[in-house]
Amino acid sequence: MSSLRDILKNEIKARGPITVSRYMAQALGHDEFGYYMRQDPFGTDGDFITAPEISQMFGEIIGVWVAVVWQALGQPNPFNLIELGPGRGTLMSDAVRAAEKMPGFEDAVRVTFVETSPALKEVQKQTMAGLFAMPAWRDSFSDVDADFAGCPSIILANEFFDALPIDQYEKADDGWHHRLINWADGENGEAGGFVFALGEILEDESVIPPDLRIAPPGALFEHCASGAKIISEIATHIQTNSGAALIFDYGHVEPGIGETLQALKAHEFFDPLKSPGEADLTAHVDFSLLGDTAAKVGTQVFGPVPQGAFLSRLGLRQRADKLILNATPEQIQEIETAYARLVDADQMGTLFKALCLASPGLGLPPWSG
Ligand SMILES: C[S@@+](CC[C@H](N)C(=O)[O-])C[C@H]1O[C@@H](n2cnc3c(N)ncnc32)[C@H](O)[C@@H]1O
Repeated sequence: MSSLRDILKNEIKARGPITVSRYMAQALGHDEFGYYMRQDPFGTDGDFITAPEISQMFGEIIGVWVAVVWQALGQPNPFNLIELGPGRGTLMSDAVRAAEKMPGFEDAVRVTFVETSPALKEVQKQTMAGLFAMPAWRDSFSDVDADFAGCPSIILANEFFDALPIDQYEKADDGWHHRLINWADGENGEAGGFVFALGEILEDESVIPPDLRIAPPGALFEHCASGAKIISEIATHIQTNSGAALIFDYGHVEPGIGETLQALKAHEFFDPLKSPGEADLTAHVDFSLLGDTAAKVGTQVFGPVPQGAFLSRLGLRQRADKLILNATPEQIQEIETAYARLVDADQMGTLFKALCLASPGLGLPPWSG
């Protein structure tokens, strides 16, 4: 039995069932036993692989996007380049290597990572070592906003929002309820385990979009309050200081009914309630929540568009062809495989999407033609 399993079990026994967001926050971010706090989970030997880890092309193309946006902002010096949840730091190191070709960029950029995991901060330090852009670190975007206000910011996040805790709501015959996580003791010598349970009825249904409230009994709705809070902070920051944000993640364009909470371990799906802290827990991102929340602040919102289309419009094919020019047959195969993973509809090309925020009046690629 993992220690976090004991901690959460004891919490439930002492105070009653916990929300899904409490469970997810502890499973991922518990100071000692949280999934991200202990380890580097990326790559073929880890639990999952992300776009920047698939190929340097992903970060390089984003670096070109960053350079063009910096130009569109009037080449401010200094400016903030901020990444939320940078993992191993691969995206940022590939991006700044590509963007530094733009005259003046190197002198102007101030990189900041928003990261909670001490283990990953160490990996990020190593990845960025030797580059001109050694980052500063902050634990939350609120800290960034307080410390780095006053100059324009370009903000990046890849697979960050899917790692934020969600709450679940379940429709029963008498209306919508919180969905909670309880502990069930085992019977006849069997081990106990966490189970889902119906919580109190929702007095205020405003968290459920109006057209989904009439869903039949058994329906499940997921809501990411922390995602809404962070996107609102990002939009306000951009609105106040000028700048843009580019967010990649997997998820849906419209809010919907259904469960997307999932656990991954060694590239296989895993029971999310089985071993908190030992598998990656994620939920699909509700892009309409992010976009609508940012739009309320007054920022321009572009997309979401499918990742494959977005990367293609930014020139991913041309970048792949350039790399192929000097590649061995084996490397060509690797480049083509990586290209297909990033853009093909049956791989990451459609499920993953790009959402962009920009301060008023800023024209951005690929939307500005
Ligand atoms: C799925 S990984 C994505 C990593 C990276 N962007 C990539 O594409 O390879 C999620 C990242 O977000 C970080 N993270 C998770 N929750 C966070 C939070 N609440 N605040 C800051 N970082 C967080 C994790 O430690 C990790 O670096």
